[in-house]
Amino acid sequence: MHAPLLAPSLLAGDHANLAASARLVEDLRLSWLHCDIMDGHFVPNLSFSPETLAALRRAGSALFFDTHLMLDEPHRYIEAFAKAGANLISVHIEPTYEHVATLARIRALGCQNGIVLNPATPAAAIESLLPLVDLVLVMTVQPGFGGQSFRRDMLPKLRQIDQWRRERNLPFRLEVDGGIDLATAAECRAEGADTFVAGTSFFKAADRAQFAANFTKL
Ligand code: DX5
Ligand code: ZN
Repeated sequence: MHAPLLAPSLLAGDHANLAASARLVEDLRLSWLHCDIMDGHFVPNLSFSPETLAALRRAGSALFFDTHLMLDEPHRYIEAFAKAGANLISVHIEPTYEHVATLARIRALGCQNGIVLNPATPAAAIESLLPLVDLVLVMTVQPGFGGQSFRRDMLPKLRQIDQWRRERNLPFRLEVDGGIDLATAAECRAEGADTFVAGTSFFKAADRAQFAANFTKL
């Protein structure tokens, strides 16, 4: 079982000073930064671009960029994000494109890969891809916006994916994203999640160091 890992979500950071938001994560000795990329089609919102990641690298960030592509045509942007400094690139299963080839391409570009499921998508939709991925991201809200409520009905999906992971002895990380705070993270941890994206709860925490410390004990 992987140790619990907190991945603060840049979406909840200061959009007028993203480098400062990334630095604040790094100053807490956290290693991951979750970067949400939206196209206004797959989700009804816009966020960051490859240039955002590249600029954070130029500003000195050494964080592991966990890059969540919420795009209708993710395969068209893999190269740009790899070049911009992404360390992991995750793509949704729902749009139509060559999933297996895209996941392989992400690795060929030197990044880790991930597959993402919307709340309405059953675990079975990604079962055959499990041996091919470094991470599975189970959305615990409908993607597009921060600050939404955790969907407790996603817990059985986590349990199923974790069960397949254990039965097949697969190494991928199991990440949750949306409405995650210490309490909901603990519920997900009990079902096998090991990687916790936290936007609002992290950036709004009165004591972020304490918040981060609590996650290591999950
Ligand atoms: C939602 C994004 C999330 C978002 C989570 O579409 O994928 O990463 O930043 O925000 P919170 O933690 O506020 O629910
Ligand atoms: Zn995300």
